[in-house]
Amino acid sequence: MDQQYWKNIDAHAKIWIHQAANLIKDSFTDELMVEFKSNPSDLVTNMDVKIEKFFIEQIHATFPDHRILGEEGVGEEITSLEGTVWIIDPIDGTTNFVHQQRNFAISIGIFHEGIGMLGYIFDVVGGELFHAMKGNGAYVNEKALKDLQPITLEEALFSMNASWVTENRRIDYRKLAPIVKAARGIRSFGSAALELAYVAAGRIDGYLSMRLSPWDVAAGIVLLNEVGGKATTIEGEPLSLLNENTLLASKPKLHENIIKEYINK
Ligand code: IPD
Ligand code: CA
Ligand code: CA
Ligand code: CA
Repeated sequence: MDQQYWKNIDAHAKIWIHQAANLIKDSFTDELMVEFKSNPSDLVTNMDVKIEKFFIEQIHATFPDHRILGEEGVGEEITSLEGTVWIIDPIDGTTNFVHQQRNFAISIGIFHEGIGMLGYIFDVVGGELFHAMKGNGAYVNEKALKDLQPITLEEALFSMNASWVTENRRIDYRKLAPIVKAARGIRSFGSAALELAYVAAGRIDGYLSMRLSPWDVAAGIVLLNEVGGKATTIEGEPLSLLNENTLLASKPKLHENIIKEYINK
């Protein structure tokens, strides 16, 4: 498969992302149907499902042999990354979408035989499309993102949800609290995809989560690969795109330091 093949997919993906974003913005004046999934903090709306369906219809009609893994389960069940697989989060940051009508993103990673080829994270209201094609660099709108440079935690703006430094089932929070103390500043944006895009753009230096799904990270991985960023589990293992993972995404060196000095300490 040559560059032209991926450029054709890229052109379609960008058109569909803008069309989907317009559907979302047009819905702002309509009444939103909000439901809980697993608990009252886990929201889903009619728009999450509608946008996922929109992408699936377009992809099936244009690329019938591509497969789709989507958060809302409208696509097929995916148990392998064979062939070309679109990994879609129709709205990442649903809580922000419901409460703020901003600070959420459409996130799409396109993988071929398990390799990240194309990545898109669109801040729908902010109008910023973070995008990357393997080997062609990463961009925000038309502007190329720079290679990430090593940094220390003391100089770093680091992102994580505050819940991970309270008692939780996934990690001893006493391992993470010292990161909060040592960093120059801590931020939390409420959208894993935007947090990954911001790491790729150098707006934050690292992001950590104890539980993310493939659709939260797929696009971000492609972006980070293009700018020399690192994205692994918090133990430094490769991320699975078929299962939930922990995540540490950051500039080089900071990544190794956090694992060595905080996680494995
Ligand atoms: C969530 C957001 C949030 C992160 C959660 C994700 P959703 O995705 O990315 O920032 O902390 O773990 O599940 O449900 O809004 O698509
Ligand atoms: Ca969700
Ligand atoms: Ca998500
Ligand atoms: Ca979502």
